[in-house]
Formats: sequence, structure tokens, C-alpha cells
Amino acid sequence: MNIGILGLGTVGGGVVNVLAKNQAELFRRTGVQIQVTHAAVRELDQSRICSTEGIQLTQDPFEVVNTTSIDVVLELMGGTSLAKELVAVAIKNGKHVITANKALIATHGNELLNLAKANKLHLLFEAAVAGGIPILKSLEQGLSANKIEMVTGIINGTGNFILTEMRDKGRDFADVLKEAQDLGYAETDPTFDVEGIDAAHKLAILAAIAFGCELQFDKVSTEGISQISGEDVAFATELGYSIKHLGIAKNINGEVQMRVHPTLIPKSRLLANVDGVMNAVLIKGNAVGSTLYYGAGAGDEATASAVIADLVDIIKGTVSSDILGWQSLKAMPSQNQNEIKSIFYLRLLATDETGVLADITSILASHNISVESVVQKQIDAQNNAHIAIITNQVKTGNINAAVIDIQKKNFIQETVKIIHVETLD
Ligand code: NDP
Ligand code: HSE
Repeated sequence: MNIGILGLGTVGGGVVNVLAKNQAELFRRTGVQIQVTHAAVRELDQSRICSTEGIQLTQDPFEVVNTTSIDVVLELMGGTSLAKELVAVAIKNGKHVITANKALIATHGNELLNLAKANKLHLLFEAAVAGGIPILKSLEQGLSANKIEMVTGIINGTGNFILTEMRDKGRDFADVLKEAQDLGYAETDPTFDVEGIDAAHKLAILAAIAFGCELQFDKVSTEGISQISGEDVAFATELGYSIKHLGIAKNINGEVQMRVHPTLIPKSRLLANVDGVMNAVLIKGNAVGSTLYYGAGAGDEATASAVIADLVDIIKGTVSSDILGWQSLKAMPSQNQNEIKSIFYLRLLATDETGVLADITSILASHNISVESVVQKQIDAQNNAHIAIITNQVKTGNINAAVIDIQKKNFIQETVKIIHVETLD
């Protein structure tokens, strides 16, 4: 089996290393010798995490997808324009394609999967979601008896690593992000990680597979972690929560809800204790109930594990062929954002005046929102009170309207912070 790789960076290098170290194991499983014969890179002389002995290197990725002797192309380069063109050419040339590129699948997956289907070839992307966790295979195979109701997960390793280091070591956001980049976790453009775009790509893929609908990346509502302050982390801890960056997809009576945002989770929940670069995905099926999957969300060999598992599936012919239930793929209507129900955390900075708390709670009450708990820190040198409120479960439209009214009050000194709370019951 001859393999051509586009990109020999973190993931591509990891694939070459795992293929070498587990050669005997892979032969035992497949009865096939797997060899990487060609690879495309940007810089031929760059130092690499893997050996390139026996691999023909080129700076022209089209050379790889046009080489007749190559059976399977691994797209591990990233980006969406050139990568899309290369994947399409590889498929038209009769090659199966495996990719770790969630941006590519989330934005062009509908078209590329149709192309692969029309050519009776496989386009697989297990590594695109949650790094080394075989989450797509779990949804597609192990949970195939279920109607999936909900998928909720920590699906960006970089973001989770940043939040964990900020909480446990009080480290600075930018400093931790730099470390995540050095470790090879972050995307080429790390705003994809910190602004939730990477998680939104992954959530669109998860929802498509879970609910059997088209990839609908444009319907994911997305908020990143860059606005989470040390004060939010401290308040959350005091109130008994951890702040995690979650992707949540739900099928509510045939309407899809897809959202990525920072979320307070009670510390007693397993997801609240998934730290560092680790990812975890909670899936609720209508037969099995809740199941939880945990593992490394990024990194060279963890991601390579998922890429090579797809390769083994192709060799053994065990691909669950039409991964999206392809013959009946349709767009799914989205639930109105204002109708989405959630508990909320509000953080307010208010002048220390008599009646401030009463005013805030009466505005909340006027929007049918009641308060579950309130914490007020001591008054600071500017005579401002630092207040955190946890509400009951309310419609998103109601909380937004209430915060607009609170914000108009003269005693409010800065923009009110709103963060979702999920109890995960
Ligand atoms: P890297 O930046 O580490 O590697 C990218 C590789 O592609 C490099 O070898 C680079 O060459 C090569 N490359 C880029 N552009 C070109 C081009 N135009 N022509 C030829 N070669 C090119 O990225 P990662 O390995 O981190 O990520 C690869 C993909 O995997 C992305 O889609 C990413 O989202 C996804 N992914 C990454 C994970 C991770 O933990 N890093 C986990 C899961 C998915 P050179 O080395 O010469 O610069
Ligand atoms: N940048 C991604 C993350 C890589 O940190 O999760 C894995 O998809």
C-alpha cells in the first residue's frame, strides 16, 4: 500500500513515526506493508520530527496527487483552498483520501464527500475531530442503534490547555497560547483556537454525523475564550464551577442547535475535570443514554493514531462506507437562538450604592428571570462592587433583553459579562 502525504509537520511527522514504530502491529492487523513513498512540504531543508529516509520529498503537492503508484493520499497540510483542490484531484485520480483538516471538511465537506461517493472512493476524517479520540467511529459504528439527541464536548485542545493553565497556575493568556503553539497544538492561525472557529468546524462535523444532516458550519453560533478574565475564573471557582469551552449540538424535535461558547460546569461533572490538552465528548443516545469519550485532543502521535485508524479501515474494507448516511443528506433547520434555554452567569461591576442589587434583580424579574445565587466581592478602591449572579434556566432572548436594560443603569461601570452554565444532568 503506497501512501502519499501532503504535509510533514506535526500530524504528518507523527504519522510517519507511528507507521514506523507500529509497523509489525499494523501488518498483523492488515496483512499489508504500508509505505510512505512521497510527501509534499513547503521547505525541503527544514528539520522534521520524523525521518524522511525512503520518502521522495517535493515542494509541489500536485506531484503527490498525480503519482500513479500512490493508493491513498493523506492531506495533512491544512488550509481550505489549495487543500480542496488537491483532495479533488486525488479523488479524480482514483485515490482514497484521509484528512485531519476540519476546516476543509466543515466548509467543503458536502461537495468533496459527494465527489468521493460518485467516484466510489473514501474520504475519511476521523482525526479532524477531537484528535486521537475515535469519536466519529463511535458515533457511526458503536452507537449506530441510537437516535442521537445531544453531543457536547471539549473539542479544542489549545483552548482547554489555556483555560487550565490560567486557572491552576494563574498564567497569562498570551504566554500559555505561545506554549500551545510551541507544542504543535495550535492552528496555523491560533485565533481559530481561541475564538472558537476550530471548535465550530468540529461541532459541524459531529452534528452532521450524529443527526444525519448536511455539514452546516454556517449555522454554528460561536464565541471564543479570549474574553474570559481571571476574575471570571475566580468567581466560577468560588461558585463551585469550572469554566470550559464547550461545543454543544442538540436535536430538538428535528431542529438543530449548534453552539460553541465558554461554559460554567459544576465541578462534580466529569467534563469539568478534563484538563490540559485533553478533549472529551459526551454523547446522549435514545437507547444507550449518556456515554463519555476522553483522550488527547491534539499533538503529533495522538492525531496520527486517528489518521492511521482510517487507513487501516480502508485496507481492511471496514469503512462504514457512507459516513454521513450520504444518500439522504439534507439541511436541518436551526432552532431560533432566542428560544435556546440555558442557565446564565452574569458578572457586573457596579458602583457601591444602596439598592443596586435590588435594582438588578428587579430588572431580571421583569424578564421572567430569577436568581439562583449571588456573590459580591469586597468593594474595590474605586468604590465599585464586583458581583456575580447565577440565574435559573431562561430563554437566551430574555437574558439578552434583561442585560440590555441593566447595562443602561448609571451604576453599571463596564460591559456586563454573560456566560452559559450547563449542569449536564
Ligand atoms: P503543521 O503546520 O505542523 O504542518 C503543515 C505541513 O504542511 C508542513 O509540513 C508544511 O511544510 C506543509 N505545507 C503547508 N503548505 C504547503 C504547501 N503549499 N505545499 C507543500 N507543503 C505544504 O500543521 P499540523 O500538522 O499541525 O496540521 C495539519 C492539519 O492537521 C491541519 O488541517 C490541522 O488543522 C489538522 N490537525 C492538527 C492537529 C494538531 O495537533 N496539530 C490535530 C488534529 C488536526 P513545511 O514543514 O515545509 O513548512
Ligand atoms: N488546534 C487544534 C486543537 C488541533 O488545539 O484542538 C486539534 O484539532
